[in-house]
Amino acid sequence: MLNLSLPIIFAVISLVMLSMQRKRQKMGRKIRNEIQTTLSASLEARAIYLYNCYTSISSKKIEHDKYLDVGCGYGVNSSIFGRDFKDVVCLDLSAKNLEECRRRISSKSNKILSLVRGDAQSLPFKRESFDLVSAFSLIEHVPDKREMLKELLRVLKEDGELVLQFPNKYFFMELHTGLPAYFLIPSFIKPWFLRKIGYEGLLEINIPTIREIKKLIEDLGVSGEIKKTKVIYPIETIPRGLRWIYTILKRLKVLNLVPLGWMVCIKKSKEQKGTA
Ligand SMILES: C[S@@+](CC[C@H](N)C(=O)[O-])C[C@H]1O[C@@H](n2cnc3c(N)ncnc32)[C@H](O)[C@@H]1O
Repeated sequence: MLNLSLPIIFAVISLVMLSMQRKRQKMGRKIRNEIQTTLSASLEARAIYLYNCYTSISSKKIEHDKYLDVGCGYGVNSSIFGRDFKDVVCLDLSAKNLEECRRRISSKSNKILSLVRGDAQSLPFKRESFDLVSAFSLIEHVPDKREMLKELLRVLKEDGELVLQFPNKYFFMELHTGLPAYFLIPSFIKPWFLRKIGYEGLLEINIPTIREIKKLIEDLGVSGEIKKTKVIYPIETIPRGLRWIYTILKRLKVLNLVPLGWMVCIKKSKEQKGTA
């Protein structure tokens, strides 16, 4: 009797666990889809918002000749930031994203637009080629952040500006997936936990803190002007289901203490070239 009931109990427990996991994955997929849909529907609003953040910390004294957007994705930010530049270069690792970038912005633009497939950690450009270099939502995806920053600063002209935007590691929610309090999960159980709930893609994302970014830049010998601002996206860029809580957090000024992300602007000065 015992011989027969044990396998049955195991089978029932496994089935229950499997169905619970499927439900969790389904819910996760729903949240992830909602985040993705809202994000792609509001790319332009996000780009305009980011541009306003940039102008609030930029020295506004740069030449408007050549602009490079690294990790350009679909190129929506590139077209907004590149509006006043003669020459716009969009670089991405993904050929598919570059194709979408070409489709979206080349028809609107009458300036020189170059699409380059390449890696942010090893840029195919001569030193001091660009007046403005940007990387939006990229650094968290790149394994060697020091090398990426070194490259971005190498191709930046003296007196040019580098603008970086990345998520806040300590925000209440992981922004790609909607996972709450993600930063509190101890690193030793993260791989197991993320695989279990079907989010193993998150293992490739490593969000730096603002302090780490500043330290990396200073270690590269660029101790000139480093300015930062909080990124608190407009409501239309937030998935509908989360807008009510976002409004409350915004009204209570909680988002000023814990913003969704950061933007950093580095002015490469003439005197302090360092290794860059
Ligand atoms: C989250 S998307 C951000 C896209 C765009 N910058 C934006 O803010 O909408 C990250 C982009 O970086 C690209 N990417 C990831 N790793 C890269 C690398 N090492 N070098 C260049 N591009 C990279 C991806 O293909 C993707 O298009």
